[in-house]
Amino acid sequence: MVLPKHIAIIMDGNGRWAQEKGLPRIAGHQQGVKTVRKVVEQCSALGVRFLTLYAFSSENWQRPDVEVESLMTLLGHYLSTELPLMEEQQIRFRVIGDLEKLPQQIRALLMQTIDSTADHAGLTLTLALSYGSRDEILRAITAVAADLDCGKLKKGQISEQLFSGYLDTAGIPDPDLLIRTSGEMRISNFLLWQLAYTELYFCPCFWPDFDAQQLQLALDDYATRCRRFGAISS
Ligand code: IPE
Ligand code: IPE
Ligand code: MG
Repeated sequence: MVLPKHIAIIMDGNGRWAQEKGLPRIAGHQQGVKTVRKVVEQCSALGVRFLTLYAFSSENWQRPDVEVESLMTLLGHYLSTELPLMEEQQIRFRVIGDLEKLPQQIRALLMQTIDSTADHAGLTLTLALSYGSRDEILRAITAVAADLDCGKLKKGQISEQLFSGYLDTAGIPDPDLLIRTSGEMRISNFLLWQLAYTELYFCPCFWPDFDAQQLQLALDDYATRCRRFGAISS
């Protein structure tokens, strides 16, 4: 079976999962963290090389303060408990997004986790935090402009490959498979540049209900896809 090298996931539907059960939205986020653990373990065990999870978008800052604060608390808790598993499974941790906007304490935990896992050779787990693709592209363009100004870069050198290196995802190959849960069929400002030729898979279940079987269904579906990249299949 063809296994995607890089899976990206828009983990959506935590709020509605909770709402359906008469629980506060945060209960959905708590349950969602459990799904994250399971999916990370499964991808790692299967031999997937890169897993990128959309955890908090640049637009999610518009949510009520209490929800944003609870999400940051959950994230802090996740980061401070996950290191042993990352050690055991040799998971390399990365983040993409505008980290400047995150609370100082969270930033410190993120840097610590990135540093302690930097030499791990297993799955690269990337969390998208305070991430918006348009914001990422603008930050990359600003960095390119600065390098042009100071002469580090010449106009003729700008290529798709070079520009990719200015994005937060530098060094990570484009996703092969994008999964979005909760039945919404949109990209919501996630990896717009990187998803150019990614296979899309939409799953109706809410993120807290996503499990090993659901992931396997997505992988089975991916294995049937014929990726042509604009060419003619041989
Ligand atoms: C996804 O679940 C998690 C985040 C965006 C942080 P939602 O919180 O968007 O849940 P719904 O879409 O409202 O159900
Ligand atoms: C996308 O979900 C962001 C994350 C999953 C982190 P949203 O719930 O924020 O997206 P919209 O608002 O439905 O497009
Ligand atoms: Mg949502």
